[in-house]
Amino acid sequence: MLSSEIKYAVNELSLGHVVGMPTETVYGLAARIDCASGIEAIFKIKERPFFDPLIVHISDFNQLGEVVKTIPEIAKILANTFWPGPLTLVLPRSQKLNSLITSGLDTVGVRMPSHPVALDLIMAAGVPLAAPSANKFGKTSPTTAAHVRNEFKRENIFVLDGGESQVGIESTVLLVRPKAEICELSILRKGHILKSDIENALKSQPFKYEFIEVADKNQAPGHMKHHYMPSVPLVLCIGARRPSEELREVMQKRLTELPDKIEEVAIVKPAAGIHRIAELVLDEDPVLAARKFYSQLRELAETKPDCILLYRLPSQYTERWESLFDRILKAASLVIP
Ligand code: TXA
Ligand code: MG
Repeated sequence: MLSSEIKYAVNELSLGHVVGMPTETVYGLAARIDCASGIEAIFKIKERPFFDPLIVHISDFNQLGEVVKTIPEIAKILANTFWPGPLTLVLPRSQKLNSLITSGLDTVGVRMPSHPVALDLIMAAGVPLAAPSANKFGKTSPTTAAHVRNEFKRENIFVLDGGESQVGIESTVLLVRPKAEICELSILRKGHILKSDIENALKSQPFKYEFIEVADKNQAPGHMKHHYMPSVPLVLCIGARRPSEELREVMQKRLTELPDKIEEVAIVKPAAGIHRIAELVLDEDPVLAARKFYSQLRELAETKPDCILLYRLPSQYTERWESLFDRILKAASLVIP
């Protein structure tokens, strides 16, 4: 990356503007954590509700101490194992942090991205950067600079081009809650770092931990039923290929019956009937499938079919496929069992 572009981005950030930042997962919309107007601009530009907290991105381990209150031993091991990389740790927050970033919660999500341009930018800014994925709220996440420029055409933001995001879906979000006897771990969002990867990293350590499901919605905000939706309806069909006419009729009927909104997220419906169907075929390799998925979704939506159809095959139920299908289920307007 040209240092002149990083310099320009650093200046934009210090003016309270947001900057498009490449990361290995997806592109982010970044602002300095110490710049209230920049943080406010993220929510405004993204049209994101204030109850959904932002992830803080750091470039070195010392910055972790500036944003959290304490670093549980287990969090140290996980950070040493997986950073820089696609794991976000949700930890007790520092009181110094702008509460807009954390949506008033007593925790903060932190990660050290591995993309060299993200690391260069955070280092040059000299302060951690808060960044959600660089898409309008509820829409498909961006994996190229062009996706970000397209999404925010009207806002005309500066975007650093770091090529295609190699992971392609957002980081794993892990809530770490140390209790007296045991540390509770909860995966709030699945991602490239798997539960089994975390278990492996902790295998030979003396610390006790257990995975628990989070029942309290306040601890896992931002987890609406729908998200990542493309501009035309996505239909997920479970199992083997169906005769097309029969399937078209089922889709036509069920898509028109959908509610307009679920949990404040507008459900994408066909403009008229279902005539032209575009099929999205996932790569056979789950890692490549995740890398390409958001791009494929955007490209197909741009051809303006009446709907996009995707099959979930029997081979796509291993742990490695879970995070991608979590996104697909949320992006889908309709699932046909
Ligand atoms: O890979 C990623 O994580 C990307 C790149 C840009 O780093 N960022 C990203 O940010 O996906 P965003 O804002 O689109 O998603 C962050 C998720 C949200 O679901 C949010 O609710 C959750 O992380 N989150 C952030 N801080 C949290 C906290 N303190 N407690 C619980 N959930 C939190
Ligand atoms: Mg997002």
